Amino acid sequence: MPSAPNSFILSLPKADLHLHLEGSIDSATWLELRKRHGKTGTLSEIDQLYQYENFSGFLMAFKTVTEDLQSPEDYELITYRLMEKLKAENVQHAEVYVSVGVCLWRKQDFDAIFEGLERGRKRGQQDFGTSLLWIFDAVRQFGPLEAQRVAGFAVRYQGRGVAGFGIGGDEQKAGPELFRDVYAYCAKNGLHLTAHAGESAGPDSIWGALNLQAERIGHGLTAWQDAELVEELSTRQIPLEICLTSNLRTGCCRTLADHPVRNYFEHGIMVTLNTDDPAMFATSLAREYQLAQSAFEFTDEHLRELARNSFEASFLPAEKKLGFLNLFDAAAPRT
Ligand code: ADE
Ligand code: ZN
Repeated sequence: MPSAPNSFILSLPKADLHLHLEGSIDSATWLELRKRHGKTGTLSEIDQLYQYENFSGFLMAFKTVTEDLQSPEDYELITYRLMEKLKAENVQHAEVYVSVGVCLWRKQDFDAIFEGLERGRKRGQQDFGTSLLWIFDAVRQFGPLEAQRVAGFAVRYQGRGVAGFGIGGDEQKAGPELFRDVYAYCAKNGLHLTAHAGESAGPDSIWGALNLQAERIGHGLTAWQDAELVEELSTRQIPLEICLTSNLRTGCCRTLADHPVRNYFEHGIMVTLNTDDPAMFATSLAREYQLAQSAFEFTDEHLRELARNSFEASFLPAEKKLGFLNLFDAAAPRT
């Protein structure tokens, strides 16, 4: 466990580009949700739920947590709580995955849920000044037809805070090529595209995501195994959404020393640091920056570059992105 984040890291303006809403539910909020729905729950239960043997154990726990998300008000609550936490670490912008695929699979009324999400986002923006965009996430193992339904909702709510579409879940069970038509549909409709790739599968999965025209890669942990791919990511400046603690806690990366983040940085890849599922992995964005510094000897200047990358690689419209970058350069000038 790295030491608590220092004041430089806490005050650095940052964006989190890979953050699952359902993975941000802390124990207090989980207990509150349980109570709301007339269920019991203890802190030791949630502590236990948030321990995983391996990647599929983690995915099962993720699914279990979503069982406690039933009403639009539940989604409103967790969105607002998340934004409160982002504010505390000067995370000024976040691109938040919502597992719409799970809502549809549970036959929930997603239109109503979206209104709850938006109430949370608006209140959070008003009270904390935090910017948040949605990325609608399809679960790969549910297949392309289900993913297309998620894409349909993303297009419907584009212009109401939905910036993009992505696929998560188990890479080993459903390769990227299955989703070609879904990605083409999203691209045609002007959505931004990302994909979890090279998290629990090899470099082919990342090539596949690039073939889908993904603009960013979620994780990209295994790209180092293919020198040509590293070159491609670097030349095209495809941002990687790196999630250090997640990769360790899911067992996708055995030890921190095995993590390629520093290697990627040295090869000129556009690296960003992110949390993935902060409550489920007991981390926060500032903790990820601290961990990067203590484990990989990133200097403060390097961290500044990584934080700047997080705004540069965002799916914000050009004008807003420029606004954030200007604010960033004023708040954290090069030394
Ligand atoms: N859903 C939530 N977090 C995920 C991850 N790290 N990989 C795949 N699916 C996810
Ligand atoms: Zn993820």
